[in-house]
Parts: sequence; C-alpha cells; structure tokens
Amino acid sequence: MRTQVAIIGAGPSGLLLGQLLHKAGIDNIIIERQSADYVLGRIRAGILEQITVDLLNEAGVGARVAAEGTVHHSIELVYRNTRHPIDVTGLTGGKVVTAYGQTEVTKDLMDARAAAGLTTLYSAADVSIHGFDGSSPVVRFRQNGELKELACDFIAGCDGFHGVCRASVPEGAITEYEKVYPFGWLGILADVPPVSTHAIVYANSERGFGLCSMRSLTRSRYYVQCPIEDKVEQWSDDRFWDELRRRLDPEMAERMVTGPSIEKSIAPLRSFVAEPMRFGRLFLAGDAAHIVPPTGAKGLNLAASDVKYLSSALIEYYHERTSAGIDDYSRKALARVWRAERFSWWLTSLMHRFPDTQGFGQKVQEAELEYLVNSEAASRSLAENYVGLPLDFGQFR
Ligand code: APR
Ligand code: PHB
Repeated sequence: MRTQVAIIGAGPSGLLLGQLLHKAGIDNIIIERQSADYVLGRIRAGILEQITVDLLNEAGVGARVAAEGTVHHSIELVYRNTRHPIDVTGLTGGKVVTAYGQTEVTKDLMDARAAAGLTTLYSAADVSIHGFDGSSPVVRFRQNGELKELACDFIAGCDGFHGVCRASVPEGAITEYEKVYPFGWLGILADVPPVSTHAIVYANSERGFGLCSMRSLTRSRYYVQCPIEDKVEQWSDDRFWDELRRRLDPEMAERMVTGPSIEKSIAPLRSFVAEPMRFGRLFLAGDAAHIVPPTGAKGLNLAASDVKYLSSALIEYYHERTSAGIDDYSRKALARVWRAERFSWWLTSLMHRFPDTQGFGQKVQEAELEYLVNSEAASRSLAENYVGLPLDFGQFR
C-alpha cells in the first residue's frame, strides 16, 4: 500500500487533517487501533472556538454544528456563592464560542470521510512507524492477523497522549514538559436540561471546583473536582448532585434539574508539551504533542489549530513544492500551544482547591476573582484567551 500522508489516529486531529488534505487533493490513509464504535464512544470536550468552527466549515462538515450547536456570548464565574457574568462577546469585539460535543465533531468527520470514500483502517494492531528520519517513511501494522505495510511521504502522528508516534522519537531528539495536578475531575453526563444554556459556569468554592456545561438543550455535562485517588464507585449520582449544588450559588443550585447519569467518570489533570512537534517526515498534532487541563476548554481547539497549521504546510509542499511551511510547523504550532497551556494552567490554578489553598490561598483566589469580574482589562484578558487568540497572534511583532 502507498499514500502521500499516513495519519495515525482517527480522533478529531486525524479525521480533521484527513478531511482538509482530501479537500486539497492530497491522498491520505488513517490507521486507527480502535474500532469506529470505540472512538465514537469517547465522552470528551464540548466547547469550540470560532477558529475550530471555521475549520469544520473549511473541511465541509460545519452544517450540524451550525444547526445544533449552542452559541455562547458569556461565561459565569461563581465565588463566595455569588455568580458573576463575563461578557465574552462584548469584550472581544463580537467573538463567541459554541457548545457542541467532541463526540458529535468526531461523528461528523467520520461520516464525511466515509461519504468521500476515504480509507480508514480501524482495529489496526501493533502499529509501528519507521524511516521518518529519511525520505521514505513506512507504517507497519497488523489487521485481521495479517502484517501490512503502508509506504508514504509523511506521517502525521495524531494518535493522542498514549500513542506510538511520540514514543517512536529517539529519546535525545525530544524534550517533554509536564505538570500533574493533585486532583481529578469527576464528570457526569445526564439527560436533563442544562442549568445554564447561555454560558458555561465555573465555580470556585472552599469545597473545590465545579463546572456546569451542556451537550444540547436536553443533555447536561457537569464536573466536580475530586481527590485523584477517588474511584467513580464512591460517587453515587445523589452524592454528585449534592456536591455540585453546594459549590454553586443558591439560586442556581435551587434551579438545577438532576437525574440519572448516563456516563460518569474521573479524569486526571495534567499539563504536558513535547518539543519539537516535527521529526524529519513525522509531525505530531493534537494530544500526541500536548495535553492541557480541561478547565480552559482548549484541548480540542488546540488539536484543531495544530491541524490547520499542518494541513496548510503540507498543502503548500505538494502544491508549491516548497518545504517552508513544514519547516516552520513546529515553531508556529508550539507558540500557540504554550499560550493555551499558560491560560489553562492559570484558570486551573485560580479555580481549584490545592492542598495548600486553605486560608491564605483561598483568600488570594477570591481576591483575584473579585478583581477579574470588576476590571475590564482583566476580564478582557480572560475573554480573549477563552474565545481563542488569532491563529497569527504575535507572528508579526
Ligand atoms: N495506533 C493507531 N491509533 C492509535 C494508537 C496507535 N498506536 N494509539 C492511539 N491511537 C488512536 C486512539 O485510539 C485515538 O482514537 O489515536 C486517536 C487519538 O485521538 P485523541 O486521543 O482524541 O487525540 P486527538 O485526535 O489529538 O484529539 C484531541 O481529544 O482527548 C481529547 O482533550 C482532547 O479534545 C482533545 C482531543
Ligand atoms: C465540557 O462541556 O465538557 C467543558 C466545557 C468547558 C470547559 C471544560 C469542559 O472549560
């Protein structure tokens, strides 16, 4: 088998890259170790920056997010049991975010790929990558027990944090930066009307962080910070609802509609960046290269901006026979990655209870939140990072 770009991983990064390359007439094959159903079964993020929505439109899969996504013009911050709106749209000259589940993004991309008759090899075992430091990289894998080889010009490592691509880079050629947070997020999905349909709600309380989001007007997505050693079995639905409501302001807590969870899980939080993001003819994109704590809703949006930079670079290579774009990919992508890492770390540090947060730490967090909601400059800084900085931010200074 042969293709121009071999994409490892059929998550949002791999599927979006495949679609954008296809639109530009660049042949690509995706190799995915799980089944399509398994990939679709993942419950992940749910807030899209406008840049991501624009990319979905560029990829030809923007119809459903336009029809079913919920546009948000603000967020709300809760501290000392009081809720404060941040006018994100007013502070950013009209920008918005859209609530639309990553599962739906993945489904839209999978459907478009199938409709275009593109090749996605699911349930591929023992995937390995070779020769990416030369001019003829290959991907080897086993499918239905048969060993197969895919020759290609380039490999896109879109295989997530636990993938094979970053792990295949020689140790001396890569630097990893990591911060692990001393708590987790217990998330619940429930078919109840969201307590807030116009804004995501972020709550700082002495009991810990809480977040109120949505997937649709009839499906809610909520989280509470929990000890990292907790097991989901320790958290009955009733315990979850009681704890979330204790972290919100009384009016919202009173109004919250509760119900049985259809999904409930605990996720760890980490900040992670691997540098560089290019190794010869191997490029890393999305979670394969970086992880953010979900507080800032940047994970999916960073994957999308990586893919925009990488697809543009590969299209330039094939159409204009220049390697300028691919040579600059890592620098350009990492500049945006680190801005999102900083924002995600800052918002996580502000909103969560750390082991040393009691007393002075809590008072300082509340003082910063009070400053944030009362200072236009501080609110604008939060808002412009939340909606996503421009793709060319800082490029021409
Ligand atoms: N071979 C083939 N496929 C692999 C391998 C491998 N060795 N290892 C992992 N994969 C697949 C996974 O099964 C998964 O489907 O790569 C895909 C990676 O997808 P994601 O982990 O979703 O990463 P990405 O596409 O970059 O999307 C980032 O997903 O995890 C969230 O918060 C994150 O919203 C962000 C988004
Ligand atoms: C979600 O809907 O899953 C979500 C929303 C906002 C965040 C994090 C997660 O900051």
